[in-house]
Amino acid sequence: MHLLHVVGARPNFMKAAPVLRALAGRSESHGSALRQTLVHTGQHYDAAMSDVFFSQLEMPAPDVNLEVGSSTHARQTAAVMQAFEPVLIQLQPDLVLVYGDVNSTLAAALVCSKLGVRVAHVEAGLRSFDRTMPEEINRLVTDQVCDLLFTPSPDADENLLREGIPPARIYRVGNVMIDSLVRLLPKTSEHFPPDISAPYALVTLHRPSNVDDLPWLRELLSTLSALSERLQVVFPVHPRTRQRLREIGEVALPPRLRLLDPLPYLEFLALQQKATLVITDSGGIQEETTFLGVSCLTVRESTERPVTVTLGSNQLVGRDLKLLRAAAEEILENGAGLKSESKPHLVPLWDGHAAERIAEIILRSTA
Ligand code: UD1
Repeated sequence: MHLLHVVGARPNFMKAAPVLRALAGRSESHGSALRQTLVHTGQHYDAAMSDVFFSQLEMPAPDVNLEVGSSTHARQTAAVMQAFEPVLIQLQPDLVLVYGDVNSTLAAALVCSKLGVRVAHVEAGLRSFDRTMPEEINRLVTDQVCDLLFTPSPDADENLLREGIPPARIYRVGNVMIDSLVRLLPKTSEHFPPDISAPYALVTLHRPSNVDDLPWLRELLSTLSALSERLQVVFPVHPRTRQRLREIGEVALPPRLRLLDPLPYLEFLALQQKATLVITDSGGIQEETTFLGVSCLTVRESTERPVTVTLGSNQLVGRDLKLLRAAAEEILENGAGLKSESKPHLVPLWDGHAAERIAEIILRSTA
């Protein structure tokens, strides 16, 4: 059997790594002939956004790199489709796996469905119900054209069923990104950045709705500056955000608001684990903080990961900076009240074994 995995952007890597590993393990233990091909679209290409994740996650090097790079949505999606189609025709895999909700996910899924190649979506069914988010369009279309849908939580199953997906295609397996976290958490202590000490707030912002709106980005920065009077604020800056900050021009930032380059997986996980609070607009970080039991304030109006709010430690603050300040104050006043020993298994199936369940289902379904 020949399986082909497509990854393209940073959040794909921690999702694909455990699935590749679980399938390789299955193949070894069953002595079955399983061939795996890894295609990197090149959507993310900086060493700090890609290579370092491959090495820390101990992923095999990509067999094929489509080298599409950055562009507008249409151009980037089209570039992946054009470059991936001949690869798919040449390799003729039995099943393709796509991950998450980035442009590479949608592009690869569309190419497969047009060529009649079976395709599976890992992290299916998530919905923010906000169609101004490019990722929401990617999720909706990808799920419609995929043959196997691996979901992380019951809300995802419900979304798919409501959209008319046949129940037989849906498999609730849990959260593969948490598999990577569980496996690598013991290694993080060696990777804690030496020049940072607790207490600190950890910040990531890269959504177009936050960073492409320059007056809003300025307001966010001034809120973070004010927060840095209370505790150190550590902000690894995504390339998109770095570009927007350059457009804003010179802004005097207080010394306790520290802008860093993007961090590798283990360094970032180490910082998350020890943070007093996390402020983010990322989807994955809402999940990781939920698992770690670290208080998270999400600067978005909606989330496609509602279990992080209902079962976890996440709070949506939307575009209300007064609420962001008040919620941060509350966390500082009451200590890390959301942390508890029982956190790690709070969300069912976020247990470090999601990829093994996927491997089992794939091997059964293609047997
Ligand atoms: C993409 C995903 C987003 C995901 C994010 C994680 C889509 C629609 N968006 O957003 O869902 O949360 O990745 O990081 O797929 N750039 C570099 N180096 C790189 C990659 C990008 O400098 O290695 C810069 C380029 O200037 C580029 C900009 O970042 O124009 C944005 O990159 P792009 O891949 O278009 O979207 P992201 O904002 O990274």
